[in-house]
Amino acid sequence: MMNHQERYDKWASTYDVDVKQRSYKGPDYIVEYLMELVSKQVIERRSDLKVLDAGCGTGLIGVKLKKHGFSHINGVDFSQEMVKLAYETGAYQILIGSCDLNKKPPLFLHHQYDLTICCGLFSFDLVKSNALKWLVQVTKPGGIILLSTRVLFCQTYNFEGYYKELEELGHLRLIDCRINKPYLGGESDAHYWVFTVPLLDQ
Ligand SMILES: C[S@@+](CC[C@H](N)C(=O)[O-])C[C@H]1O[C@@H](n2cnc3c(N)ncnc32)[C@H](O)[C@@H]1O
Repeated sequence: MMNHQERYDKWASTYDVDVKQRSYKGPDYIVEYLMELVSKQVIERRSDLKVLDAGCGTGLIGVKLKKHGFSHINGVDFSQEMVKLAYETGAYQILIGSCDLNKKPPLFLHHQYDLTICCGLFSFDLVKSNALKWLVQVTKPGGIILLSTRVLFCQTYNFEGYYKELEELGHLRLIDCRINKPYLGGESDAHYWVFTVPLLDQ
């Protein structure tokens, strides 16, 4: 039987066409949400803003971010084949394959990003809720994490309980969220969350 990584490697070449046919709205929705946060100055618009696309897949998010003028975009994913396609988009400066976000990320990624964006990863059993801890780890103090979760994922893995534990420990703070919003087809089957990673002296 194929493991997740092999499944995504195999899916990579047809991923963009497949998700288009299934009216995958996650990337559009999350990037629109991001741009609203930028216009409300929740996220500072700086030319040197460093962005990590966590679970970047074929690069759908990176391409949209580039169109909006972001120019320092890195991506990680555990599928090497997905990452190869993301590379071809020309939207990313650095791409790292074989990066499992269920595990502690490599040291050189720690506290590097002003914005960590993650769409489509907190879904089914690709990762567990504790992947959020690793997103915190790669984000700079004062930085922002913007991510989608499937509704069913939240229920199955008690995502809200988990982020509240991290909040109590002072590792992050929820600053905004949108519940039951578009993701796949005509369903409102995802939540979108915005966290900030507190500055060290807060
Ligand atoms: C539904 S796709 C989303 C891709 C992209 N973010 C998008 O919105 O099109 C999920 C991605 O997560 C990656 N992935 C799944 N489990 C992962 C894990 N444990 N660690 C890192 N990446 C993972 C898959 O390889 C795939 O590229």
